[in-house]
Amino acid sequence: MGNQSLEIAQALPPGAARCPQEPSTQDIIARDRVAAPAWVRCESYEFLGDEDISIDRYIDPAFAKREFDTLWNRTWQFACREEHIPEVGDYYVYDIGRHSFIVTRVAKDDVRAYYNACLHRGTKLRPSGTDGCASEFQCSFHGWSWHLDGSLKESVCAWDFPHVDAGKFSLPQAKVERLAGFVFINMDHGAPALAEYFGPEFMAHINEWGLENRYIYCHVVKKIPANWKLNMEAFMEAYHVIHTHPQVAVSNADANSQYDIYGEHVNRFISSLGVLSPHLRGQYTEQDILDQFTIGDSSMLGGADRTLAPGETARQRMADIMRVMFEQGTNTDLSGVSDAELLDCFSYTLFPNTFLFPGISLPMVYRFRPDRDDHRKSIYEVFFLRPLPVDGIRPEPVETVYLDDDQSFTEAEGMDPGFGAILDQDTDNLLLQQEGLEASAKPGITLGNYQEIRVRHFERAIDKYLQGGA
Ligand code: FES
Ligand SMILES: [Fe+2]
Repeated sequence: MGNQSLEIAQALPPGAARCPQEPSTQDIIARDRVAAPAWVRCESYEFLGDEDISIDRYIDPAFAKREFDTLWNRTWQFACREEHIPEVGDYYVYDIGRHSFIVTRVAKDDVRAYYNACLHRGTKLRPSGTDGCASEFQCSFHGWSWHLDGSLKESVCAWDFPHVDAGKFSLPQAKVERLAGFVFINMDHGAPALAEYFGPEFMAHINEWGLENRYIYCHVVKKIPANWKLNMEAFMEAYHVIHTHPQVAVSNADANSQYDIYGEHVNRFISSLGVLSPHLRGQYTEQDILDQFTIGDSSMLGGADRTLAPGETARQRMADIMRVMFEQGTNTDLSGVSDAELLDCFSYTLFPNTFLFPGISLPMVYRFRPDRDDHRKSIYEVFFLRPLPVDGIRPEPVETVYLDDDQSFTEAEGMDPGFGAILDQDTDNLLLQQEGLEASAKPGITLGNYQEIRVRHFERAIDKYLQGGA
């Protein structure tokens, strides 16, 4: 069977082969009882070549330096959510490498990002990792201060600085755009607008999700002992599920997941849940699939009836259970939400370092950043978002949980333990991968044409920035 499917694949144009065990993601979704919207029922795969990707990008500190010099200073990055800075004067410090920004709400509808450095002798105006509310930004060293709008308020002993033109001493700013409750910043004032950067397909998708009407109920940060790109790529495919997460494969379509690319800066997968992995075909019944479905915020799945009626599929019943449980658990109205949106894992990568998961069962945002001093370390953040309650009152943002290097994700308050175990499995591979690449006699990594297209697409964008294009 394996050799036969390889021969069939080799007879096809490169990139055209799919898992020979049907159904495809689109077939699964087409059978759902509550139909999926257009942004789900579309495909956008493109073959981008099959050559190896050189490993210097993961193991060479000079490569990391080039990224700071040519990529991080020219790309749109998710700095914070608007809910982090709801009131005028609220601020949130976002760091990337040596760069640091005070993202602050200057007026009700005006958010700015100031370079976080005093214009006198350079002291950071707010410590990294902090947020709060300010009526001005005063430096802790000699007391110079700036108004919220960035203009110079006071230079202490101004008589000693006749050469300082207050009009030219406003805090420098990065570009800021807001989209769906996210605040994005870009250090490059010549950068394209955010909508152009993400492209029309993604903009059409995100405009349907209503992510501005979600709130963060859990935020976990952990340092990972691997290059930031390895850290990201660990979450770009479902190819690893059968081996790394065998406990979820019974109810995950893994090798039948769908992969899409959109322009230069966005890609996605759709990984269907509530269906059997094609690797396990014939080994489990529909009832087994339902019984073993645990992924997501399963604390809300409580006492639902889990016995299937004759002819009913696990996926159908799971969608019904989830709709009721999430409506009750989060006090929201999900009657118009499709089965696919309730159940499936939709993962979008926004280049360079953000993942959005707009589904209901896995409502997350990931952010990845390189360690500023060590190319072998990265900072991984998971934000869990829920729809706003029907009363419309937005809960306060939660306290960030910082895990120690040796702590499990299952220990993070607010994290579903089953999902925390999955994140442990994902990140436990990363030190081995970092060290293996450093030990390797092979100069490149080899990628699957379909299931690993997001990795290739991502690395292609990295190369473009490093080569001066975008
Ligand atoms: S360094 Fe900021 S006031 Fe002197
Ligand atoms: Fe994983």
